[in-house]
Amino acid sequence: MAIDRKAGPAGPRERALERGATAVAHPNIALIKYWGKSDERLVIPYVDSLSMTLDVFPTVTTVRLTPGEPSDTVSLDGAPAVGEPLRRVIDFLELIRELSGRIEPAAVDTRNAVPTGAGLASSASGFAALALAGVTAYGVDLDATALSRLARRGSASASRSVFGGFALCHAGRGIGAAADLSSYAEPVPVTDFDPALVIALVDAGPKAVSSRAAMRRTVETSPLYQAWTISSKGDLLDMRAALHRGDLEAVGEIAERNALGMHATMLAARPAVRYLSPGTLAVLDSVLQLRADGIPAYATMDAGPNVKVLCHRAHADRVAETVSGAAPGCSTVIARRGPGARLRAEAEE
Ligand code: DP6
Repeated sequence: MAIDRKAGPAGPRERALERGATAVAHPNIALIKYWGKSDERLVIPYVDSLSMTLDVFPTVTTVRLTPGEPSDTVSLDGAPAVGEPLRRVIDFLELIRELSGRIEPAAVDTRNAVPTGAGLASSASGFAALALAGVTAYGVDLDATALSRLARRGSASASRSVFGGFALCHAGRGIGAAADLSSYAEPVPVTDFDPALVIALVDAGPKAVSSRAAMRRTVETSPLYQAWTISSKGDLLDMRAALHRGDLEAVGEIAERNALGMHATMLAARPAVRYLSPGTLAVLDSVLQLRADGIPAYATMDAGPNVKVLCHRAHADRVAETVSGAAPGCSTVIARRGPGARLRAEAEE
Protein backbone atom coordinates (compact mmCIF):
# COMPACT_ATOMS: atom_id res chain seq x y z
CA MET A 1 0.00 0.00 0.00
CA ALA A 2 1.39 3.44 -0.90
CA ILE A 3 1.44 5.76 2.10
CA ASP A 4 0.45 9.36 1.44
CA ARG A 5 3.08 11.27 3.42
CA LYS A 6 1.22 14.56 2.92
CA ALA A 7 -1.63 13.17 4.99
CA GLY A 8 0.60 13.43 8.09
CA PRO A 9 2.87 11.02 9.93
CA ALA A 10 2.07 7.37 9.29
CA GLY A 11 0.47 5.47 12.21
CA PRO A 12 1.90 2.16 13.47
CA ARG A 13 -0.42 0.16 11.20
CA GLU A 14 0.59 2.08 8.08
CA ARG A 15 4.24 1.92 9.07
CA ALA A 16 3.96 -1.85 9.46
CA LEU A 17 2.39 -2.19 6.02
CA GLU A 18 5.16 -0.15 4.48
CA ARG A 19 8.21 -1.33 6.41
CA GLY A 20 7.11 -4.76 7.50
CA ALA A 21 7.13 -6.11 11.02
CA THR A 22 9.71 -7.99 13.04
CA ALA A 23 8.78 -10.47 15.76
CA VAL A 24 10.84 -12.47 18.24
CA ALA A 25 9.76 -15.83 19.67
CA HIS A 26 11.49 -18.47 21.76
CA PRO A 27 11.31 -22.24 21.55
CA ASN A 28 9.39 -24.21 24.13
CA ILE A 29 10.03 -27.67 25.52
CA ALA A 30 7.01 -29.85 26.18
CA LEU A 31 6.77 -31.43 29.62
CA ILE A 32 3.67 -33.25 28.37
CA LYS A 33 4.30 -34.03 24.72
CA TYR A 34 2.27 -33.53 21.59
CA TRP A 35 2.80 -36.41 19.18
CA GLY A 36 0.33 -37.27 16.39
CA LYS A 37 -2.38 -35.37 14.52
CA SER A 38 -6.07 -36.15 14.10
CA ASP A 39 -6.14 -33.79 11.09
CA GLU A 40 -2.94 -33.18 9.15
CA ARG A 41 -4.23 -30.33 6.99
CA LEU A 42 -5.52 -28.34 9.95
CA VAL A 43 -2.69 -29.51 12.24
CA ILE A 44 -4.95 -30.75 15.04
CA PRO A 45 -3.08 -32.66 17.77
CA TYR A 46 -4.47 -35.90 19.17
CA VAL A 47 -3.40 -35.00 22.70
CA ASP A 48 -3.21 -31.93 24.91
CA SER A 49 0.35 -30.80 25.60
CA LEU A 50 2.02 -28.56 28.15
CA SER A 51 5.33 -26.77 27.78
CA MET A 52 7.80 -24.29 29.17
CA THR A 53 8.90 -21.49 26.87
CA LEU A 54 12.65 -20.92 27.10
CA ASP A 55 14.77 -17.79 27.41
CA VAL A 56 17.37 -19.03 24.89
CA PHE A 57 17.58 -19.66 21.13
CA PRO A 58 15.18 -16.96 19.87
CA THR A 59 13.93 -16.79 16.31
CA VAL A 60 13.74 -13.30 14.79
CA THR A 61 11.47 -12.99 11.77
CA THR A 62 10.68 -10.01 9.56
CA VAL A 63 7.76 -10.01 7.13
CA ARG A 64 7.49 -7.22 4.55
CA LEU A 65 4.84 -6.91 1.85
CA THR A 66 6.34 -6.81 -1.66
CA PRO A 67 3.53 -5.62 -3.95
CA GLY A 68 5.79 -5.39 -7.03
CA GLU A 69 7.10 -8.97 -6.77
CA PRO A 70 5.60 -12.01 -8.51
CA SER A 71 5.77 -14.31 -5.47
CA ASP A 72 6.83 -14.74 -1.86
CA THR A 73 10.52 -14.92 -1.05
CA VAL A 74 11.82 -16.61 2.08
CA SER A 75 15.29 -16.32 3.55
CA LEU A 76 16.23 -18.79 6.28
CA ASP A 77 19.35 -17.93 8.26
CA GLY A 78 20.57 -15.77 5.38
CA ALA A 79 20.07 -18.33 2.58
CA PRO A 80 17.03 -18.67 0.27
CA ALA A 81 14.66 -21.34 1.62
CA VAL A 82 13.82 -24.15 -0.79
CA GLY A 83 11.72 -27.33 -0.81
CA GLU A 84 9.58 -28.23 2.19
CA PRO A 85 10.54 -25.31 4.49
CA LEU A 86 9.72 -22.84 1.68
CA ARG A 87 6.39 -24.53 0.95
CA ARG A 88 5.39 -24.48 4.62
CA VAL A 89 6.09 -20.74 4.94
CA ILE A 90 4.22 -19.92 1.70
CA ASP A 91 1.21 -22.02 2.82
CA PHE A 92 1.26 -20.15 6.12
CA LEU A 93 1.40 -16.74 4.38
CA GLU A 94 -1.65 -17.88 2.37
CA LEU A 95 -3.57 -18.30 5.63
CA ILE A 96 -2.61 -14.79 6.71
CA ARG A 97 -3.59 -13.37 3.31
CA GLU A 98 -7.00 -15.06 3.63
CA LEU A 99 -7.48 -13.41 7.04
CA SER A 100 -6.33 -10.01 5.77
CA GLY A 101 -8.15 -9.93 2.45
CA ARG A 102 -4.89 -8.72 0.89
CA ILE A 103 -3.13 -10.45 -1.97
CA GLU A 104 0.39 -8.98 -2.03
CA PRO A 105 3.28 -11.42 -1.72
CA ALA A 106 5.78 -10.97 1.08
CA ALA A 107 9.48 -11.18 1.76
CA VAL A 108 10.23 -13.22 4.87
CA ASP A 109 13.57 -13.11 6.61
CA THR A 110 13.97 -15.50 9.53
CA ARG A 111 16.98 -16.13 11.73
CA ASN A 112 17.27 -18.90 14.28
CA ALA A 113 19.71 -18.81 17.16
CA VAL A 114 19.16 -22.57 17.41
CA PRO A 115 20.33 -25.20 14.90
CA THR A 116 17.32 -25.73 12.61
CA GLY A 117 15.71 -29.18 12.45
CA ALA A 118 17.70 -30.73 15.32
CA GLY A 119 14.75 -31.40 17.60
CA LEU A 120 15.29 -28.14 19.43
CA ALA A 121 11.92 -26.72 18.58
CA SER A 122 12.98 -24.27 15.84
CA SER A 123 9.58 -24.79 14.18
CA ALA A 124 7.86 -23.70 17.42
CA SER A 125 9.75 -20.40 17.71
CA GLY A 126 9.75 -20.09 13.90
CA PHE A 127 6.00 -20.25 13.33
CA ALA A 128 5.20 -18.23 16.47
CA ALA A 129 7.46 -15.43 15.20
CA LEU A 130 6.15 -15.77 11.64
CA ALA A 131 2.53 -15.65 12.82
CA LEU A 132 3.05 -12.46 14.81
CA ALA A 133 5.24 -10.68 12.24
CA GLY A 134 2.94 -11.87 9.43
CA VAL A 135 -0.37 -10.70 10.87
CA THR A 136 1.21 -7.37 11.83
CA ALA A 137 2.71 -6.86 8.38
CA TYR A 138 -0.64 -7.68 6.71
CA GLY A 139 -2.56 -5.47 9.17
CA VAL A 140 -4.61 -8.24 10.82
CA ASP A 141 -5.60 -7.73 14.45
CA LEU A 142 -5.70 -11.00 16.40
CA ASP A 143 -5.98 -11.63 20.12
CA ALA A 144 -3.50 -14.03 21.74
CA THR A 145 -5.85 -17.04 21.40
CA ALA A 146 -6.42 -16.42 17.71
CA LEU A 147 -2.69 -15.86 17.18
CA SER A 148 -1.94 -19.16 18.93
CA ARG A 149 -4.55 -20.94 16.81
CA LEU A 150 -2.98 -19.48 13.67
CA ALA A 151 0.57 -20.42 14.78
CA ARG A 152 -0.70 -23.99 15.30
CA ARG A 153 -1.43 -24.22 11.57
CA GLY A 154 2.31 -23.81 10.96
CA SER A 155 3.41 -26.22 13.66
CA ALA A 156 1.32 -27.37 16.59
CA SER A 157 4.12 -26.71 19.10
CA ALA A 158 4.28 -23.09 17.83
CA SER A 159 0.85 -22.44 19.37
CA ARG A 160 2.57 -22.68 22.79
CA SER A 161 5.51 -20.35 21.95
CA VAL A 162 3.05 -17.47 21.58
CA PHE A 163 3.05 -17.47 25.39
CA GLY A 164 5.83 -17.14 27.91
CA GLY A 165 6.31 -19.39 30.93
CA PHE A 166 4.09 -22.46 30.90
CA ALA A 167 1.44 -23.04 28.23
CA LEU A 168 -1.16 -25.72 27.59
CA CYS A 169 -2.19 -26.55 24.02
CA HIS A 170 -5.71 -27.97 23.73
CA ALA A 171 -6.00 -30.88 21.34
CA GLY A 172 -9.34 -29.51 20.17
CA ARG A 173 -12.80 -31.05 20.10
CA GLY A 174 -14.79 -32.38 17.16
CA ILE A 175 -13.62 -32.36 13.57
CA GLY A 176 -12.98 -29.79 10.85
CA ALA A 177 -13.85 -26.20 11.71
CA ALA A 178 -14.91 -27.10 15.26
CA ALA A 179 -11.55 -28.74 15.95
CA ASP A 180 -9.73 -25.80 14.39
CA LEU A 181 -11.57 -23.35 16.62
CA SER A 182 -11.00 -25.29 19.83
CA SER A 183 -7.31 -26.15 19.37
CA TYR A 184 -5.03 -23.41 20.69
CA ALA A 185 -2.67 -22.79 23.59
CA GLU A 186 -3.21 -20.71 26.68
CA PRO A 187 -0.92 -19.70 29.50
CA VAL A 188 -0.82 -21.86 32.63
CA PRO A 189 -0.34 -19.53 35.56
CA VAL A 190 2.54 -20.91 37.61
CA THR A 191 3.91 -18.56 40.24
CA ASP A 192 6.43 -20.37 42.40
CA PHE A 193 8.27 -22.48 39.90
CA ASP A 194 11.32 -21.22 38.06
CA PRO A 195 13.54 -24.23 37.33
CA ALA A 196 16.53 -24.59 35.03
CA LEU A 197 16.42 -26.66 31.88
CA VAL A 198 19.89 -27.83 30.90
CA ILE A 199 19.96 -28.50 27.17
CA ALA A 200 22.48 -31.21 26.31
CA LEU A 201 23.41 -30.85 22.64
CA VAL A 202 24.37 -34.39 21.78
CA ASP A 203 24.21 -33.82 18.06
CA ALA A 204 23.11 -30.52 16.50
CA GLY A 205 22.82 -31.84 12.93
CA PRO A 206 19.46 -32.03 11.14
CA LYS A 207 17.35 -35.05 12.06
CA ALA A 208 17.04 -38.04 9.74
CA VAL A 209 13.22 -38.18 9.85
CA SER A 210 11.11 -35.02 10.20
CA SER A 211 8.84 -35.00 13.25
CA ARG A 212 5.90 -34.60 10.87
CA ALA A 213 6.66 -37.83 8.99
CA ALA A 214 7.63 -39.65 12.19
CA MET A 215 4.41 -38.82 14.00
CA ARG A 216 2.33 -39.85 11.00
CA ARG A 217 4.09 -43.20 10.90
CA THR A 218 3.64 -43.62 14.67
CA VAL A 219 -0.09 -42.90 14.52
CA GLU A 220 -0.59 -45.22 11.55
CA THR A 221 1.54 -48.17 12.64
CA SER A 222 2.52 -48.16 16.32
CA PRO A 223 0.50 -50.58 18.47
CA LEU A 224 1.56 -48.52 21.52
CA TYR A 225 0.28 -45.16 20.31
CA GLN A 226 -3.27 -45.41 21.63
CA ALA A 227 -2.08 -46.52 25.07
CA TRP A 228 0.28 -43.54 25.29
CA THR A 229 -2.48 -41.05 24.38
CA ILE A 230 -4.57 -42.47 27.22
CA SER A 231 -1.76 -42.38 29.78
CA SER A 232 -0.89 -38.87 28.62
CA LYS A 233 -4.26 -37.59 29.86
CA GLY A 234 -3.38 -38.77 33.38
CA ASP A 235 0.12 -37.31 33.05
CA LEU A 236 -1.37 -33.92 32.19
CA LEU A 237 -3.62 -33.88 35.25
CA ASP A 238 -0.71 -34.90 37.48
CA MET A 239 1.54 -32.32 35.83
CA ARG A 240 -0.86 -29.45 36.40
CA ALA A 241 -1.11 -30.34 40.08
CA ALA A 242 2.68 -30.68 40.40
CA LEU A 243 3.27 -27.31 38.70
CA HIS A 244 0.72 -25.72 40.96
CA ARG A 245 2.60 -27.05 44.00
CA GLY A 246 5.94 -26.01 42.48
CA ASP A 247 7.11 -29.58 43.06
CA LEU A 248 10.18 -30.04 40.86
CA GLU A 249 10.62 -33.74 41.64
CA ALA A 250 7.04 -34.53 40.61
CA VAL A 251 7.19 -32.28 37.52
CA GLY A 252 10.42 -33.98 36.48
CA GLU A 253 9.19 -37.52 37.06
CA ILE A 254 5.99 -36.93 35.10
CA ALA A 255 7.82 -35.18 32.24
CA GLU A 256 10.39 -37.96 32.02
CA ARG A 257 7.84 -40.79 31.96
CA ASN A 258 5.70 -38.95 29.41
CA ALA A 259 8.69 -38.39 27.08
CA LEU A 260 9.98 -41.95 27.41
CA GLY A 261 6.46 -43.20 26.66
CA MET A 262 6.36 -41.06 23.52
CA HIS A 263 9.69 -42.49 22.37
CA ALA A 264 8.40 -45.99 23.11
CA THR A 265 5.50 -45.39 20.71
CA MET A 266 7.99 -44.41 18.02
CA LEU A 267 10.25 -47.38 18.65
CA ALA A 268 7.22 -49.62 18.16
CA ALA A 269 6.30 -47.95 14.83
CA ARG A 270 6.84 -49.99 11.68
CA PRO A 271 9.50 -49.31 10.61
CA ALA A 272 10.77 -47.98 13.95
CA VAL A 273 11.54 -44.29 14.41
CA ARG A 274 14.57 -43.95 16.64
CA TYR A 275 15.83 -40.48 17.54
CA LEU A 276 17.76 -41.62 20.60
CA SER A 277 21.46 -42.10 19.85
CA PRO A 278 24.22 -43.68 21.95
CA GLY A 279 25.03 -40.15 23.17
CA THR A 280 21.40 -39.68 24.26
CA LEU A 281 21.52 -42.88 26.30
CA ALA A 282 24.82 -41.88 27.90
CA VAL A 283 23.28 -38.56 28.96
CA LEU A 284 20.20 -40.40 30.30
CA ASP A 285 22.50 -42.63 32.35
CA SER A 286 24.26 -39.57 33.77
CA VAL A 287 20.87 -38.13 34.79
CA LEU A 288 20.10 -41.36 36.66
CA GLN A 289 23.49 -41.11 38.33
CA LEU A 290 22.81 -37.50 39.38
CA ARG A 291 19.59 -38.68 41.02
CA ALA A 292 21.43 -41.50 42.75
CA ASP A 293 23.82 -38.83 44.07
CA GLY A 294 20.91 -36.85 45.48
CA ILE A 295 20.53 -34.20 42.75
CA PRO A 296 16.96 -34.04 41.45
CA ALA A 297 17.41 -34.02 37.65
CA TYR A 298 14.95 -35.34 35.07
CA ALA A 299 15.24 -35.80 31.31
CA THR A 300 12.98 -35.11 28.36
CA MET A 301 13.70 -35.65 24.67
CA ASP A 302 11.93 -34.53 21.51
CA ALA A 303 12.30 -35.48 17.87
CA GLY A 304 16.07 -35.67 18.01
CA PRO A 305 18.99 -37.01 20.05
CA ASN A 306 19.36 -33.97 22.33
CA VAL A 307 18.31 -34.18 25.97
CA LYS A 308 16.80 -31.46 28.14
CA VAL A 309 17.37 -31.89 31.85
CA LEU A 310 15.07 -30.25 34.35
CA CYS A 311 16.62 -29.33 37.69
CA HIS A 312 16.74 -26.68 40.40
CA ARG A 313 18.57 -23.51 39.30
CA ALA A 314 21.04 -23.99 42.13
CA HIS A 315 22.06 -27.36 40.62
CA ALA A 316 22.21 -26.23 36.98
CA ASP A 317 26.01 -25.84 36.75
CA ARG A 318 26.64 -29.23 38.37
CA VAL A 319 24.05 -30.88 36.09
CA ALA A 320 25.53 -29.20 33.00
CA GLU A 321 29.03 -30.32 33.92
CA THR A 322 27.92 -33.91 34.54
CA VAL A 323 25.85 -34.38 31.40
CA SER A 324 28.38 -32.70 29.12
CA GLY A 325 31.01 -35.14 30.36
CA ALA A 326 28.73 -38.08 29.63
CA ALA A 327 28.89 -38.13 25.83
CA PRO A 328 31.75 -37.15 23.50
CA GLY A 329 31.27 -33.71 21.97
CA CYS A 330 28.25 -32.97 24.13
CA SER A 331 27.82 -29.28 24.96
CA THR A 332 25.23 -27.67 27.21
CA VAL A 333 23.16 -24.52 27.42
CA ILE A 334 21.35 -23.58 30.61
CA ALA A 335 17.85 -22.23 29.95
CA ARG A 336 15.10 -20.87 32.17
CA ARG A 337 11.51 -19.93 31.55
CA GLY A 338 11.32 -17.24 28.92
CA PRO A 339 8.95 -14.71 27.35
CA GLY A 340 6.16 -15.10 24.82
CA ALA A 341 6.28 -13.87 21.23
CA ARG A 342 6.58 -10.12 20.89
CA LEU A 343 7.02 -7.52 18.20
CA ARG A 344 10.42 -5.94 18.04
CA ALA A 345 10.37 -2.17 18.31
CA GLU A 346 11.93 -0.26 15.42
CA ALA A 347 14.58 1.11 17.78
CA GLU A 348 15.84 -2.44 18.40
CA GLU A 349 16.29 -3.23 14.70
C1 DP6 B 1 8.32 -34.08 19.97
O1 DP6 B 1 5.20 -29.13 16.48
O2 DP6 B 1 7.37 -29.75 15.32
O3 DP6 B 1 8.61 -31.73 19.99
O4 DP6 B 1 2.97 -29.87 14.22
O5 DP6 B 1 4.06 -31.42 12.62
O6 DP6 B 1 4.99 -29.14 12.93
P1 DP6 B 1 4.25 -30.30 13.57
O7 DP6 B 1 5.21 -30.90 14.70
P2 DP6 B 1 6.03 -30.18 15.83
O8 DP6 B 1 6.23 -31.43 16.81
C2 DP6 B 1 6.72 -31.30 18.08
C3 DP6 B 1 6.80 -32.64 18.68
C4 DP6 B 1 7.62 -32.73 19.96
C5 DP6 B 1 6.75 -32.66 21.19
C6 DP6 B 1 6.18 -31.31 21.55
O9 DP6 B 1 6.82 -30.27 21.32
O10 DP6 B 1 5.09 -31.31 22.13
